[in-house]
Amino acid sequence: MRLALALLALVGLGKTAPSPHQPHDDLSSRAAWPNGPFVTSGRWILDASGKNLTYAGTNWPSHADVMIPEGLQYQSIETIVQKIKSVGMNAVRLTFAIQMVDEIYTNGGTDVTLQTAFAQALGQANGVKVLAQVLAKNPRFTATTTRLQVFDAVAAELARQQIYVHLDNHISKGMWCCSSTDGNSWWGDTYFSAANWTRGLSYMANHAKSWPAFMSMGLRNEPRDPTNIPSLSKSSYNWQTWYTYMRQGATAVHSANPAPLIFLSGLSYDTYLTPVVQGTALTPGTGKFSLGDFVGYADKLVLELHNYENSIGSCSSLQGNLERNGFEALRGGAGKAVMPVMMTEFGFQMDEKTWKGVYASCLASYLPGIKAGWTIWVLAGSYYIRSGTQDYDEGWGLLNHDWSAWRSQSYIDGAFREMVRATLS
Ligand SMILES: *[C@@H]1O[C@H](CO)[C@@H](O)[C@H](O)[C@H]1NC(C)=O
Ligand SMILES: *[C@@H]1O[C@H](CO)[C@@H](O)[C@H](O)[C@H]1NC(C)=O
Repeated sequence: MRLALALLALVGLGKTAPSPHQPHDDLSSRAAWPNGPFVTSGRWILDASGKNLTYAGTNWPSHADVMIPEGLQYQSIETIVQKIKSVGMNAVRLTFAIQMVDEIYTNGGTDVTLQTAFAQALGQANGVKVLAQVLAKNPRFTATTTRLQVFDAVAAELARQQIYVHLDNHISKGMWCCSSTDGNSWWGDTYFSAANWTRGLSYMANHAKSWPAFMSMGLRNEPRDPTNIPSLSKSSYNWQTWYTYMRQGATAVHSANPAPLIFLSGLSYDTYLTPVVQGTALTPGTGKFSLGDFVGYADKLVLELHNYENSIGSCSSLQGNLERNGFEALRGGAGKAVMPVMMTEFGFQMDEKTWKGVYASCLASYLPGIKAGWTIWVLAGSYYIRSGTQDYDEGWGLLNHDWSAWRSQSYIDGAFREMVRATLS
């Protein structure tokens, strides 16, 4: 892989007139995009030439009831990716449900068709109607195109427009996420089989080998207290169990595909990773988090956090919380972990004023300021179905209902473009 990329880079050099003002990392700047696989070094993520990079991107939900990327009844994949590209974003957190993989196994290795997927999720009549809209906007697909073929097409277009793909296991059962009573909260919860999860992670990590832009994978979105099963909550919702499963998940991904970075998310809806970062006991045990436990791929691990403290009163309180929750790993300190940390979810109402408030404006300066990557929640303008409501309007979506324009042009022009630019510069 590295050799092939280096050769491509040399071919590139031959074609371009050399400039006397090229920086010393001449070869790396000409290496073929995406120039992976990526590794970590301390707090940085590096490409195959040793150049640091991060993500400034968005979540593209693909894990809900239909279990394909949202928005395709309104726009083509090309149009949606162009929209992402037009503001300079360089990454998409593409979510998926373990149920999608489970159903492939149930069907003896055959993936579910769009016809079946839409009918199952929306009912027969609406399933037929919405599928027809998807096919009209995306004529490359047919009723017998499968779910994973849609993921493949999205991943291929993201690669074509040079946007990294981060694959995120968002949930087990395909549906809107997340609550502590939704059956998907913790290993052993109603729909959350640890065995199906590791199988699904392996399957997707292996499948995504054919996606040139696939650079990283999140093991599980927002682990949380399974309050619907008090005995499980009491016996298992803790850091010690978290570490057992995160190591299983990391092994599942890395042995299926050694290339991607692996993102670990914390407790309480991935809002904190404090013991991991501070090097304190993973309670109720006494063991500690150690990169050395990930033998042979300690340089593949990244921490991810979410934050939705939307009504916080001051930017300094928010920053203090974020530091304690885990962003301090970007600085390190005696006995503390030093690792890359990204904010893979934050978001707010997309209107004319919310982006000017404390929460949004604080993150817009804080994240680029500490050189932390991020993916905003959420690209969507509407969902095929959310919590039982079809064609659900997403007020927090970057896009309007039919995914044709920004929902808040003033946010895009007034803050978002600059946040992207400052993060990637
Ligand atoms: C790369 O690292 C340098 C510091 O060595 C930093 O100034 C720059 O912002 C980093 N770039 C990104 C994209 O993180
Ligand atoms: C695990 O996958 C199998 C199909 O291989 C499925 O029948 C089962 O319901 C899944 N378990 C859970 C808890 O979803």
